[in-house]
Amino acid sequence: MKPFFRSLSSSCSLYSCILFMLLICVLFLKVEINLDQTAQGILELRSLLHMSKASLGPSVLQDTKDNFTCSGKNDSLEGLPKGIPELHRNFLQYKHCRSFPRLLTPTACEDDLFLLLAIKSTAIQVDRRMALRGTWGKQGIIEGKQVKLVFLVGQSPDTVKGYSLQKLLEYENKQFGDILQWDFLDSFFNLTLKEVHFLRWFSQECQAAQFVLKGDDDVFVHTRNLLEFLKDYSPSNHLFVGDIISPAYPIRNPADKYYIPEEMYSNREYPPYAGGGGYLMSQVTVVGLDQVAQNTDLFPIDDVYVGMCLQKMNVKLVFHNGFKTFGYRQYITPFNACFYKDLMVVHKLSTTELWTMWSILRLISTHPAS
Ligand SMILES: *[C@@H]1O[C@H](CO)[C@@H](O)[C@H](O)[C@H]1NC(C)=O
Ligand SMILES: *[C@@H]1O[C@H](CO)[C@@H](O)[C@H](O)[C@H]1NC(C)=O
Ligand SMILES: *[C@@H]1O[C@H](CO)[C@@H](O)[C@H](O)[C@H]1NC(C)=O
Repeated sequence: MKPFFRSLSSSCSLYSCILFMLLICVLFLKVEINLDQTAQGILELRSLLHMSKASLGPSVLQDTKDNFTCSGKNDSLEGLPKGIPELHRNFLQYKHCRSFPRLLTPTACEDDLFLLLAIKSTAIQVDRRMALRGTWGKQGIIEGKQVKLVFLVGQSPDTVKGYSLQKLLEYENKQFGDILQWDFLDSFFNLTLKEVHFLRWFSQECQAAQFVLKGDDDVFVHTRNLLEFLKDYSPSNHLFVGDIISPAYPIRNPADKYYIPEEMYSNREYPPYAGGGGYLMSQVTVVGLDQVAQNTDLFPIDDVYVGMCLQKMNVKLVFHNGFKTFGYRQYITPFNACFYKDLMVVHKLSTTELWTMWSILRLISTHPAS
């Protein structure tokens, strides 16, 4: 009996040994396959990065590019006073060029889209975009409402370790489908170009959206509070809510980032406008802005430009205390649950602060204070 059992047990261990070997093989193969797929992905990305612009095909449509020729510099402005800075001079000479081709398009807007989050970003701010996608900017159904995120981006000549940011942005859009990009330089004085291109795109391709939050990529947005607030409003009535600045005066100090010479704007006051960190609009207001903007000369400060258009439309700008877009930094108390009660937007946060606020908000909503 004994030897029989022994042989059985040894054959058993042999059997399990074979099984074990097989398992190792399978695991090894699996690892091999995964490594292979990763390597394939890296090769694809590398070849994409090395491709010349011309070979990128559908992202740059050569035939439509011809439809956007601009008649060049406005020579009748040669005699501008000497004191006007080069930047402002350049702006004035080219401000009639206001239509540029689109380079990247996000996924289509849903027919039942309720809230569109339209966020100004630049190619280099990948970390901010990732933070938004993972926190308050999550797309999908929230509180029963469809929410969509798009990033508004211009052209950047910058590179990272020799790779063009443009190719990385194309890859990012392949992954996330949330980038709307046009072929103009992404600069401070071109932000109004971004505004008018966004308005055009909205009217032509995303008019289903009932409301729009327009903001920067360094803001925290309390998406649920926005949705709650919007319950009382209709997309077919004008609505423009934010941190309204009024009266606001043009800055006449040439050293200031927001300097505007008299030759560019001679009125003593700006029309009321909202701090650009984030403001909320209804569908009819956005479509109206697009109509009016087409007949309004560009002005370098985009928030003021929107204010100018709203004035022409006779839309009342509504102040809301929950939009904290100016100089509120010292009052931000993310660890105090009450802070989030009526909060809509907080401007100028690092990605770490953004994650912190998001985490705290989630804690509060899963363990509501009694
Ligand atoms: C470009 O212009 C041509 C000729 O004017 C026109 O047929 C075509 O539809 C235009 N394309 C776009 C995208 O506007
Ligand atoms: C050039 O500037 C002059 C003076 O501001 C203006 O009247 C004219 O319309 C401009 N031309 C173009 C093509 O925008
Ligand atoms: C705006 O973009 C255009 C097109 O890329 C560029 O020629 C122009 O210099 C930019 N303007 C400013 C003020 O950066």
